[in-house]
Parts: sequence; C-alpha cells; structure tokens
Amino acid sequence: MNSEVKHICCIGAGYVGGPTMAVIADRCPHIQVNVVDLNKKRISEWNNSDLSKLPIYEPGLEEIVKRCRGKNLHFSTEIETYISTADMIFISVNTPIKQKGLGAGQTSDLKWIEASARQISKHAKGKTIVVEKSTLPVKTAKVIKDILEGSNREMDPNERKSFSVLSNPEFLAEGTAINDLERPDRVLIGGDNKESIEALAKIYSHWIEPEKILRTNLWSSELSKLTANAFLAQRISSINSVSAICESTGANIKEVAKAIGMDSRIGGKFLKAGPGFGGSCFKKDILNLVYICNFYGLNEVAQYWQKVVDINIWQQNRIAKIVVQKLFGTLSEKKLAILGFTFKANTNDTRESPAISICKDLLDEGCNLAIFDPKVSSKKVEDDLKTKQSKGVKQNDMNFGSWRLSKTIEEAAKDADALLILTDWDLFKNIEWKEIAKLMREPSWLFDTRGITDKETVQSFGINFWSIGDGS
Ligand code: NAD
Ligand code: UGA
Repeated sequence: MNSEVKHICCIGAGYVGGPTMAVIADRCPHIQVNVVDLNKKRISEWNNSDLSKLPIYEPGLEEIVKRCRGKNLHFSTEIETYISTADMIFISVNTPIKQKGLGAGQTSDLKWIEASARQISKHAKGKTIVVEKSTLPVKTAKVIKDILEGSNREMDPNERKSFSVLSNPEFLAEGTAINDLERPDRVLIGGDNKESIEALAKIYSHWIEPEKILRTNLWSSELSKLTANAFLAQRISSINSVSAICESTGANIKEVAKAIGMDSRIGGKFLKAGPGFGGSCFKKDILNLVYICNFYGLNEVAQYWQKVVDINIWQQNRIAKIVVQKLFGTLSEKKLAILGFTFKANTNDTRESPAISICKDLLDEGCNLAIFDPKVSSKKVEDDLKTKQSKGVKQNDMNFGSWRLSKTIEEAAKDADALLILTDWDLFKNIEWKEIAKLMREPSWLFDTRGITDKETVQSFGINFWSIGDGS
C-alpha cells in the first residue's frame, strides 16, 4: 500500500463529509482533498461565493472553507474522476434506517454504501485505501471488501487493483463539529492492514496527539461507534425518565442532575433533561444495535437497548399532552408559539427533531402554530410536517391545525396563548419576558422543555410556567 497519501476523495458532502474534509484540508495543506456528491444542489452550495449560504451551518466552518476552498479543498460532482485519482477514499454517505423490506424500521439501508463501493471498485486505480466514515452495522467492512474484490476477479491479472478497507468512525456532534474535529477525545482506526492504518494515522497525527489515535480490529471499531451513541442516548433517556419522576414528586431535575453528576464515576455531562433526543443518528444507531443483538439471538440485550428508544418516544409524546392539559383540555383555535425547530442549538439540521413529533401532536389538536427558528426555512418545516400550502398558511393533511413560520420571537408570541421552547438556542435564554408578556393573550403560558429560562422572572410578568423536570 502507498503510505504517503497525497490525494483524498470523500464520497458524501454532508454534515460529516463536509466539515471533516474541511478540517483535514486545513491541517494538511500538502494533501488535495476532493469532496464529491451526486447531489448537484448541495455541491453548488458548497461552492457558493457567499459563505453564509453553505449547505451546513456549523460555527467555525465558514472560516476554514474560506481558507482552503480552491486551494486544497474542492467540492465536485465529478465522482468518477476524483475516485480515480485518490490514494485514499472516505465513504461518508447517509445510512438511514431501511424503510422497506427485510429489517425495515430496524437496520440501516446500505444502498448508498453499496453504490459507493461499486463506484470505487470500477473507477479506482492502483492501490487504494477505502475508509468507512459513515456509521455502519458491524461486519459492513466485509460487504465493502467483497464488492471491491468482486470486480478484481473479472480483471486481467496485470491490471488488478489493490484495496484495503479501514473503519474510522466519526464522533463529532453537530453544532460543535469543528471543535470536535480539531480537538477530538480520540480518533479510532480499525483495520487489518498495518500499512494502511499507519497511513491514516499519519494524516491525523498532523494535529492530534499520538496517544489519542486508537488502533483496533475492524469489528471493534464498527461496534464502538454504535456503542458510543447507544451509551450517550441511554444517559439522555435515563435523565428524561427521572425528569418525569421529578414532576410527580416535587423534586427538581437540575438539582438531581447536579447532585448525581458531581460523582466522578457518573460525571456531569449529557445530563440535561429535554424533549427527547433528536438528530439523524442516535435512534438509527440504537436500532441497529438492537437488530444485531436479535440477529445473534441476544434477545434480552436487544430489549434492554430498545427501551432507550421507547423512553425517548414516550418523552416526546408526553410534552403535547401536558400542554393540552394545562390549556384547559383543548387547543382548538388557540395560537401556540414554537421556539426552535432544529434538534439542538447551533445547527440547521432538523432530522428526527423532537419538534417535529411535538408539532404534529399539537396540530392534531387543532391549534395554530407560529414557528420561529433562527436557521430553519419554511420549506424545511413543510417537508418535515408534510403539509400542503394554501394561501400562505400551511395546513396539515388532516386540515386540522395550521402553521406559519415567524421571522422573530415577538411575531411568534403576538396573541399567543402559549410559548414552547423546544431547542436550546442561546437567544431563547435572553428573552425580554416583560415585552413578551405584553404581546401574549392571557392566561399565558411558557412551556420550557429545555429548562433554560428563569422561573421567577417569567412568573413575575404574569406568565404561567412549566419546565421539564420541575416538580416544585
Ligand atoms: P448527509 O445525509 O448529511 O450526507 C450524506 C451525503 O452523501 C448526501 O449529500 C448524499 O447525497 C451523498 N451520497 C449518498 N450516496 C452517494 C453516492 N453514491 N455518491 C455520492 N454521494 C452520495 O449524512 P451525514 O449526516 O453526513 O451522515 C453520514 C454518515 O455519518 C452516516 O452514516 C451517519 O450515521 C454518520 N455520522 C453522522 C454524524 C452527524 O452528526 N450528522 C456524526 C457522526 C457520524
Ligand atoms: C451525537 C453524538 O454526540 C456524537 O458523538 C455522534 O458522532 C453523533 O451523534 C452521530 O453519530 O451522529 P449529535 O446528535 O450531533 O451528536 O448531537 P448531541 O449533542 O449528541 O445531541 C443529540 C440529541 O440529544 C439532541 O437532540 C440534544 O438536544 C439531546 N441532548 C443532548 C439532551 O437532550 N440532553 C443532553 O444532555 C445532551
């Protein structure tokens, strides 16, 4: 294998491929990094001269793209060309849950992985290191190897290509992706070809301490990624389950989280109760783990992890119920302001956002929603809520409630009966409650599902207050 990597190709210019390759290009000026995607719109957005229009919003990303784009960082739809010139190819395509067929609703749909492997198999030249960056079910590296080797068997022995497959899962979180990539807790490389492993480790060693670069076998690497996400999600389901106990008993979830988090064995991170975890990965990765467990006959283990997802669905569902109960059992003709639609702050990503299921539940109750989010477009909300447009007001398919996108918090709050904070954006922490109270219809309510507002301040302006896990 060629250990000096000079040309990288990354298939998939998404939330992982884009930022990850931008940081590699920034830290390794001697490597040409080509990010390719079949989505022409996405690539043209990556090439937009107005950096505020990049397809992905991540703090710090614009500056890096500004420094590297056109020098050693390129975004293109010429997939075949850049596969053929690469020494190392990252596969960073989407791996969503399968919608149909065997394993539907449980395991990842690997059709984009398979398509990528076939493209590589066909167009790569000479020796190529293929790196799994996408999160994949354990043993997928074998599938990729089989596809890559398949084409070789049909070739003239003199023209045969040589492939080596590595697993290098990504642990970045959206909203902090650049920091996570520049200062990761660890980098994980799984493989069985030492030279290839070292070639990839050498790239990371340009900015990451050697002791943080772990080397494992392929299956440990693939499984560690699923397990890391399962553990993180499990913490959120644990704290969310306790938030409900707090509400019933008079305890306060922030006090409980602090008290348990100060035990160094538990630790204080990832203990914020909320409306349930969202994002494209936690649910899918746990379901993958569940599927693998069932496949190997580990049914009790599968049930254990399934409960993490079940509690998350329950947590999302109970929010709308609480709102209905507090607003006299009916939302019909009432206006509710939704503050935040993304699954967390500092991203424009709405995939699996708890806001989607909560808004749908509220729309089913017949209310009018005014949705405000600093980074989400009307088109995205429309896609997520699957609504039809009629005369500027979007109604859901059942012709029940309706929703509009608001440009400001004030516009959303005007004449609203209740405000729901669903995303922990910083600007919701600094709301002028005195002004908002004047705009709302009385009796007004704030439902803070993120626990980011001050109860006494909000109540002092006559707004009724409910916050996640606040039983006092
Ligand atoms: P994404 O949907 O944002 O991006 C994937 C891109 O791949 C899309 O733009 C799509 O058009 C492109 N693509 C698919 N098939 C292709 C093909 N054959 N040729 C060229 N382009 C192709 O997805 P993402 O959020 O970047 O996630 C990618 C992977 O990384 C997933 O497996 C995910 O589980 C994992 N992951 C995601 C995150 C995250 O924060 N989003 C973090 C860690 C790991
Ligand atoms: C998560 C992991 O944190 C990353 O390490 C992983 O690489 C990534 O998934 C992935 O594989 O896709 P991400 O989903 O981007 O990253 O964001 P998180 O910060 O983990 O938040 C996930 C969800 O949990 C959000 O909805 C967030 O609001 C919620 N959350 C998080 C809480 O409700 N409470 C917390 O204490 C932390």
